[in-house]
Amino acid sequence: MKVLGIESSAHTFGVGIVDKGRVLANEKSMYKITTAGMIPAEVADFHIEHAAGVIDNALSKANLSFDDIQGVCYTKGPGIGPCLQVGQLSAKTIALNLGVKITTVNHCVAHIEIAKHFAKQKDPIALYVSGGNSQILKIKKTPHKHYHVLGETFDIGVGNMLDNFARSAKLNPAWGSTVAKYAKDGRYLDMPYTVKGMDFSFTGLLTRATSLIGKEKIEDLCFSIQEASFSMLCEALERALMLTKSKEICACGGVAQSERLRSMLSEIAKEHNFKFGYAPDQYNADNGAMIAFVGERNLKGKHHVPLEKCTIDQKFRTDLATVY
Ligand code: FE2
Repeated sequence: MKVLGIESSAHTFGVGIVDKGRVLANEKSMYKITTAGMIPAEVADFHIEHAAGVIDNALSKANLSFDDIQGVCYTKGPGIGPCLQVGQLSAKTIALNLGVKITTVNHCVAHIEIAKHFAKQKDPIALYVSGGNSQILKIKKTPHKHYHVLGETFDIGVGNMLDNFARSAKLNPAWGSTVAKYAKDGRYLDMPYTVKGMDFSFTGLLTRATSLIGKEKIEDLCFSIQEASFSMLCEALERALMLTKSKEICACGGVAQSERLRSMLSEIAKEHNFKFGYAPDQYNADNGAMIAFVGERNLKGKHHVPLEKCTIDQKFRTDLATVY
């Protein structure tokens, strides 16, 4: 079933086309984040401007026309309201015009499911780490099949924390990947480390690292903020692994592109004889293919949504989404 999926929860307007679980296209346009961060109305304007072009690119990449599309889906949430609305309206317009079924997808579930697919895992503990989210999850079958949150951040996502530090330190581009580059030549400075059971917190670490900008070498600060935050994630994950019977670890989300985090996770997996996997980078960053991937499965299972009930939910928690 050829399904077109639209992702627009934050800086990326992405369009994916999937058929029988195979990705035929994964096109995107990404808003360039300035030192001011993401201004919702500006990002939404960017998505409006680029939506038609990205949809066209995806269709030509897949060598298809609109008439070939048999189903449509979009990110319902979580995300930035005005940005989500652009994807919602684009998807509804396409579905209405083509007369095909439409469904909605939870952004976090899509990240996990596409990573699980590429990692060839069945029932992993998922470490979902991105800008807005940081969670440790595992499928639970009751009262409905969903991702049960074993642990999560008390405050901000690890990606936002790294980006926020990068902006304060005036790194260019102000992203976690630039922090990673500087971190290669750094040494460890004492940093706050906050893990409570399987939950963790990043704001103390961010405040401390930011307060030392200009007083300590940037390489040392980058190394320390990265090392402390990833170690916190790993400690919480290890505890979650011991409490469940899972033998697989699956990393997903934008921060799962970090080589350092991957090497720490792979060490944990080796030590406990677990399998560790993740998706290729283009599927860890926000993308339309992951939405289409879950959307196709939902639509095949006849879990479509009436047009009038196709809403958005900025705070759509991972554990509230049913996994089909
Ligand atoms: Fe994401």
